[in-house]
Amino acid sequence: MIKPPDTFTTARLRARVPRVGDAAAAFQAYANDPEVTRFLTWKPHERIETLAVFLLGSIINWENGKGPFNWMLSPLDSDAIIGSIGVTIADGKAMFGYVLARSHWGRGLMPEALGWLVGWSLAQPEIFRAYAFCDVENAASARVMEKAGMAREGVLRRWHTCPTISPEPRDCVMFAKVR
Ligand SMILES: CC(C)(COP(=O)(O)OP(=O)(O)OC[C@H]1O[C@@H](n2cnc3c(N)ncnc32)[C@H](O)[C@@H]1OP(=O)(O)O)[C@@H](O)C(=O)NCCC(=O)NCCS
Repeated sequence: MIKPPDTFTTARLRARVPRVGDAAAAFQAYANDPEVTRFLTWKPHERIETLAVFLLGSIINWENGKGPFNWMLSPLDSDAIIGSIGVTIADGKAMFGYVLARSHWGRGLMPEALGWLVGWSLAQPEIFRAYAFCDVENAASARVMEKAGMAREGVLRRWHTCPTISPEPRDCVMFAKVR
């Protein structure tokens, strides 16, 4: 079983394992923002407590060593929670998901975090494919994947649901880097 490092840093970000006490900060920064969750698989949290329960689940996933492995993201020079990134590792593949507070969009931060994780993943002897997908309308996320070194592979029709938009499954674009 591969377990990623519980912290890592990039030029401007620090990633660490979540704490239940992060719930209020993450709620305020991004998790209750419908603009942020528009293309995500979860609706905005309406209460801090539901996010705390999710974070507890993430901590347990780290402890059992199976993942998915999620990190909270902060600027290097502060303890503020500004986003989160995660990886699911299975069958020689690493799949990523990520979210950033709206106030930090457009500064190239997520490509930095994702690029680090893509590099780490493909440096593991057991992992051959690093991939992620986004809604066909999520142009910012598609660009993040490109900037992290992944290549567009194609459209997966009716692949995921974005409950903030509609209960119906929607089309996605798949990106990957392989070795
Ligand atoms: C997607 C997300 C992580 C991007 O992170 P970020 O750190 O702001 O990314 P960047 O700063 O690299 O900016 C996004 C890139 O997309 C481009 N972009 C943004 N909106 C765009 C649009 N509507 N059309 C075309 N390009 C767009 C930007 O110009 C930028 O590319 P550039 O550097 O070549 O100019 C962030 O917007 C976010 O958290 N969104 C909500 C959650 C989400 O959708 N997560 C991904 C789920 S798959």
